[in-house]
Amino acid sequence: MPATDDFTVTPYAVEGDIDYDRLLEQFGADALSPEQKARFPSPTHPLVRREVFYAERDVDPFLDAASEGTTHSIVTGRGPSGPMHIGHVFPFYFAKHLQDQTGALVYIPFSDDEKYFLKDNSLEEISDYTRENLLDLLAIGFDPERTRIVVDTADADVVYPLATAFAKEVTQSTVDATYGDPENIGLSFYPAVQATHLLLPQLVEGRHPTLVPIAVDQDPHVRVCRDIAAKQRYDVDKPGALLSKFLPSLEGPGKMSSSGDEASILLSDDRETVFEKIRTHAFSGGQTSIDEHRRRGGNPEIDVSYRLLYYFFEESDERLERLAREYRDGTLLSGELKDIAAEKIADFLDAHQERRESLDSLEAELEPYRLTADERRAARERAGFPANALIQQ
Ligand code: TRP
Repeated sequence: MPATDDFTVTPYAVEGDIDYDRLLEQFGADALSPEQKARFPSPTHPLVRREVFYAERDVDPFLDAASEGTTHSIVTGRGPSGPMHIGHVFPFYFAKHLQDQTGALVYIPFSDDEKYFLKDNSLEEISDYTRENLLDLLAIGFDPERTRIVVDTADADVVYPLATAFAKEVTQSTVDATYGDPENIGLSFYPAVQATHLLLPQLVEGRHPTLVPIAVDQDPHVRVCRDIAAKQRYDVDKPGALLSKFLPSLEGPGKMSSSGDEASILLSDDRETVFEKIRTHAFSGGQTSIDEHRRRGGNPEIDVSYRLLYYFFEESDERLERLAREYRDGTLLSGELKDIAAEKIADFLDAHQERRESLDSLEAELEPYRLTADERRAARERAGFPANALIQQ
C-alpha cells in the first residue's frame, strides 16, 4: 500500500479516514457511472440512486441479463457475529427490491465459520446468532422459488467440496498480501469459502452473470474469487460487484458496528428505543442553541438523522430536498429532523418485526430456501466432484 494512505480497509480491519476514490485505485474497481446508474430498473433503489453504492466491477453483464430476462443472480451474505442492526439489512432489502423487479436469483450465505475464526464468540454463541439472524432474513420475504440460503457449517456437504476445489487455486502469499497475516489457519482458508459463496449460483444454475452488492471492505474477497474464475478451470463468469461506502454510525462518520460499544439501532428495537437512541446518540449537524440554529442553519451532509433518511428511509427525492433546504435555512430544527428520521425508522422496524413474529419455526420457514438435493449434486459436479464420489444426501 502506498505510504501516502493513512487508512486501512480489509475484510478484517477498517481504520482511518477513508478516501473512497483512492480506495478504488488501490483495489482496481471503477466508479459507478451515471449511465450504469440509469440502467438499474426503475424505480431505482435509493442506495443506488443516492450513491451509497458508488463503485462496481462488471455490473454491465448483470444489467444486460436483468433487462433481457435471462438468468442473473445476486449474492449477499451475513457473518453472524451479533444481533443485526439496521445497516446490516440494507443490502438484503436492496436484493429483495431487485428480485421483485427483475426476478433475480438471490443467494444468501451465512459465514458462521468466518465469524468463529475472527471473533471471540463461542461456537454456541455463533450458532445462536445464526438462528436469530436467519429469522431476520426470512422476515424480509424473499421469493423461496428464487432464493437460496446457505449456512457454511450446516451446508458443508456442498460448501466444503467447492471450497476444497477453489482453495487449491489460491496461494498463501496471495492471502497474506490481500488480507494481512491471518491470525489462524481458518482465516487462511476462509477466502476459498467466500469464493464458494460468490460462485455458488453459477455452479448450481450454470454460467450466468452474478452481482455481489457489498461494503467496499469485502472487495478483496471478490478479487480473490474473480482470479479463481479467470483461471477458467470452471465454467463460470467472474462475479461482478456493486461496492458501497460505509454507513455512518449514530455517533458520526465511520462504520456502524454491533460489536463495539457505540449505540446502533437494532432490528429488534421498539419505537420508544428508536426515538431514544436517535435523540440521545444521533450526531447532529445543527447548531448548539435554537437561536443560533435559526440564524445559521444546520448541515445535512454530516447530520446522521438526515443521512439515514437519505440512504434508505426516505424514498421521495422531493421530500428529502425540502428537508435539506429547511435544515440549511434554519427553519427545521435538529430535534425535529431527528423525530422525522426516528418515525420513519420505527415504521420500517414495526413492519419488519411484524413479519418476523408471524413466522413459523426456523426449521419450517428455512426449508423452502435450502438447496435441493439436485442443486447440491449439480454444484459439486460443476466443481469437478463426480456424482458418485460422495455419500448421497
Ligand atoms: N464476510 C461477510 C461479512 O463479514 C459476510 C459474507 C459471507 C458475505 N459471504 C458473503 C457478504 C458473500 C457478501 C457476499 O460480513
